[in-house]
Amino acid sequence: MFGSLSALPADPILGLSAKYRANTNPKKIDLGVGVYKNEAGHTAVLKCVKAAEKHRLDTEDTKVYIGPTGSSLFNEEMAKLIFGHHKVLLENRTRTVSTPGGTGALRVAAEFINSCKAGATIWISNPTWTNHIGVFEAAGLNVKTYPYYDYENKTLDFDGMLAALKEVKADDAVLLHACCHNPSGMDLTKEQWQQIAEVAKNVGFLPLIDMAYQGFGEGLEEDAYGLRLMADSVKEMIVCSSCSKNFGLYRERIGACSIIAQNTHSADIANSVMLKVVRCIYSMPPAHGAAIVETILLSDELRAQWYIELQEMRDRINSNRTLLVDKIAAAGVTRDFSFIARQKGMFSFLGLTPEQVQQLQDEYSIYMVGSSRMSIAGIAQSNVDYLAQSIAKVL
Ligand code: LMR
Repeated sequence: MFGSLSALPADPILGLSAKYRANTNPKKIDLGVGVYKNEAGHTAVLKCVKAAEKHRLDTEDTKVYIGPTGSSLFNEEMAKLIFGHHKVLLENRTRTVSTPGGTGALRVAAEFINSCKAGATIWISNPTWTNHIGVFEAAGLNVKTYPYYDYENKTLDFDGMLAALKEVKADDAVLLHACCHNPSGMDLTKEQWQQIAEVAKNVGFLPLIDMAYQGFGEGLEEDAYGLRLMADSVKEMIVCSSCSKNFGLYRERIGACSIIAQNTHSADIANSVMLKVVRCIYSMPPAHGAAIVETILLSDELRAQWYIELQEMRDRINSNRTLLVDKIAAAGVTRDFSFIARQKGMFSFLGLTPEQVQQLQDEYSIYMVGSSRMSIAGIAQSNVDYLAQSIAKVL
């Protein structure tokens, strides 16, 4: 049976890590996968996570099955983190399950949408995280795109986006990035969110919000502004969130899928369908990451420590953005790269051709996705001059 298979290319994002690791050039720079790195280029375990793990090690007394919903304490705390004091919680219209990472949440959401309407259409931004397409298609959804990033002017094609979303059908789903758009770093302003929420209300499509970077843009509350506004306007919505980046729990695979329904009764029905979806994919989520997150969020001390560490990560990424813009100019490049400093979160497109990206990799050992998406956290004081000069050379 296996003889009918042909080998597939490596994942465009994850495949870069293996190439980077195999490179022996001491000057190599990894701007590939979206993981936070400190000035030394290391992705350290957060101090609040270490403390929570120690606590769990001392107190955990069973490894018995946790059930498809996952930890109810984690789910409650995540819902508060995502929705704040929003009326959807007070009205008891949300149901949250713990998932294996943000990708697990997206797959659960996609299967859930497919259970509502087999082969439903989901609209995704052009561009988006490449794996969105794979995850949605694997669940049987029909993927279409709406305009989003204006590559020419390095900004948002908001008019194009708005016009496209007005034409979406009422029983379609629309994927929106809550903050820190991956791969462009180009986020909606508050006013633009208001307009999109208005369109969602008028058209009646289902918003599916992907929030993989809460706290990496402007702050935990600020980054949830758009989705909370959307939840004011629509009756049904899904939010997929991830603890990979903001808690640095990448390999623990912990995220959440939250459904907002019209009322409590409908929420219970939706939840039963979501649990069936979970049971048929992975039965129940891993527990360790959820236990760490709930321990942090339920402890005043650890939560305060987390806020500090999250702010450090956010501030470092933002300062890397201005640092790179300044260094590229100092390397004698006349093209305007100031857009990088205006964008948010972990990524921006440098705006190079695939050939120039390949040249950076082959001749300078600098790794970024072929679209010229850079993971800004890979920049450091120690490598930024070399990076800027190499960019100047390929330009
Ligand atoms: C990324 O976009 O680099 C991250 O979300 C990691 C991944 O799984 O692709």
